[in-house]
Amino acid sequence: MTIRLEQPSDYREVENLTREAFWNVYRLGCTEHYVLNQYRSNPDFVPELDLVMEEDGHIIGHIMFSRAQLVLDDGTRVPSWTFGPISIHPDYKRKGYGLKLLNYALEKARELGIGFLCMEGNINFYRHAGFDLASKLGIHYHAEPRDAEVPYFLAQELIPGWLKSNGVIEATYAPPKGYFVADENPDAFEAYEATFPSKVKLHLPGQLV
Ligand SMILES: CC(C)(COP(=O)(O)OP(=O)(O)OC[C@H]1O[C@@H](n2cnc3c(N)ncnc32)[C@H](O)[C@@H]1OP(=O)(O)O)[C@@H](O)C(=O)NCCC(=O)NCCS
Repeated sequence: MTIRLEQPSDYREVENLTREAFWNVYRLGCTEHYVLNQYRSNPDFVPELDLVMEEDGHIIGHIMFSRAQLVLDDGTRVPSWTFGPISIHPDYKRKGYGLKLLNYALEKARELGIGFLCMEGNINFYRHAGFDLASKLGIHYHAEPRDAEVPYFLAQELIPGWLKSNGVIEATYAPPKGYFVADENPDAFEAYEATFPSKVKLHLPGQLV
């Protein structure tokens, strides 16, 4: 198993992998492959953390990171980071690859000076890589009541004390605009989606939408 930077020649394979990994997991079909496709040219994209995992001669995993912002109560914006999508091909799920890829990426992120990350996800996976509820660090989710303990909103200080040393005691987070690209451009998304082999959209338990 190897982990390396994504190359332009990988783009289509990685988008297809992302589509396979997310298909019908959180909604009918998925949009994460389009998010990735569009994000690579977004100034928030972090190319140094655009990583693929290879096994058995092909790409089985991918993760990307984005610049983000925390907003203090007085409106001050503090530069921060988030990540995702993270994908492991369905044939390789639940074999430890996702955690290996995530931990490798977090170590690289720390080396780059990324001191804090928050994102939406399932704590049963992310807690293995050191994430906990963001509310425990005083970080609130923009779409939920301020004092709510939001079970899917997770965070981690990669550099201990980073929040305090950056003047963050309490703050609010909203995902960067780049993550909503499919909702904002449904026609462009549909045209892009039509370039992939057709797949059946199914209602499955656990979907969010
Ligand atoms: C989520 C994902 C990246 C995890 O990668 P993975 O290789 O399957 O996970 P791992 O084998 O490294 O999991 C390590 C542990 O995390 C937990 N875990 C993994 N996936 C989980 C999930 N979907 N829900 C709850 N817990 C999970 C388990 O405790 C697992 O250990 P176990 O299998 O011994 O019980 C991968 O399954 C995937 O691509 N899923 C579809 C896309 C997705 O949901 N991405 C994340 C969006 S937030």
